[in-house]
Amino acid sequence: MTRFQPNGVLWKDTEGNEMQCHGGHLLFADGYYYLYGENRIGENYVSCYRSRDLYNWEFRNNVLTTGSATEKIRQRTDLKLKNEDGRKVNIERPKVLYCEETGKYVMWMHYENGHDYLDARIAIASSDTPDGDFVYHGSFNPYGYMSRDCTLFRDDDGRAYFISTARDNADLHIYLLTEDLMNVKKHVNTLFQGEYREAPAMFKKDGKYYLLSSFCTGWAPNQGKWSVADTIDGLFTELQDFGDETTYRSQPTFVFTLDVEGRTEYIYFGDRWCYNPDRSVTLQGKDPLYFYKQSSYVLLPIRFEGERPYIEWQE
Ligand code: GAL
Repeated sequence: MTRFQPNGVLWKDTEGNEMQCHGGHLLFADGYYYLYGENRIGENYVSCYRSRDLYNWEFRNNVLTTGSATEKIRQRTDLKLKNEDGRKVNIERPKVLYCEETGKYVMWMHYENGHDYLDARIAIASSDTPDGDFVYHGSFNPYGYMSRDCTLFRDDDGRAYFISTARDNADLHIYLLTEDLMNVKKHVNTLFQGEYREAPAMFKKDGKYYLLSSFCTGWAPNQGKWSVADTIDGLFTELQDFGDETTYRSQPTFVFTLDVEGRTEYIYFGDRWCYNPDRSVTLQGKDPLYFYKQSSYVLLPIRFEGERPYIEWQE
């Protein structure tokens, strides 16, 4: 049975359970699309679902939890996955790439200590299979920089890049990764000085590098923007509007490309974070994750007018 799920409504898996898999990423492996995302319930951090058709999602595993195995990869990498007082850390926006050289699936995430948002670190984990138990390799600040909302991008020459907000979200950095995907190798670009762009999502079309992003307004959606460059380490154009004033109530998560009858389709995945804009519902007596748990995705085909990418609302 094909389960069509309306845009922006909390997804259900093939067992009928609500999917907690937010701020995620999609990876194609072994004939399946693997969806990784944040799962804040209980001891979970990152969950993994898979699908052959992008409609029916089978739950596979909570691939990163407070109890995940840890393995240090270099000195002074913080391996903490839970605080001494029992409080969980924050793991956000997990992204996964496959590394041919090592045969590992490598996950990059945004890490915070669970008490405040001042650590602003990258965290890394890896696994031999796409939906196995990932081994946690710890968190760090790349070259000492802050690093919050993030994404991974694999170029068609095989090079992989990590893109994340720096300087308290004021700027966006692009880092080239080492071939084993276990470290940053070079800081190759700093974009949008003082523009506070977060939720970055990159894709490549006709040899050009497109970057979608949102403004910094916490969980609340805002006007998306796009920018394009001829080279990833070169000049990106000025920011221009993408979607409507709330990007159809979503924030970019990633862009997925799909071959449809020989054409490449570019699919925008945006998080529809559930929040409480007018404070009309009080959290009193409710689960602190009450709103967060209802978060969903908005998927829209990206269309182009010349170089300009745009999306239009569809149910
Ligand atoms: C948003 C960000 C989310 C999360 C949230 C926390 O701006 O996009 O990933 O960090 O803030 O308040």
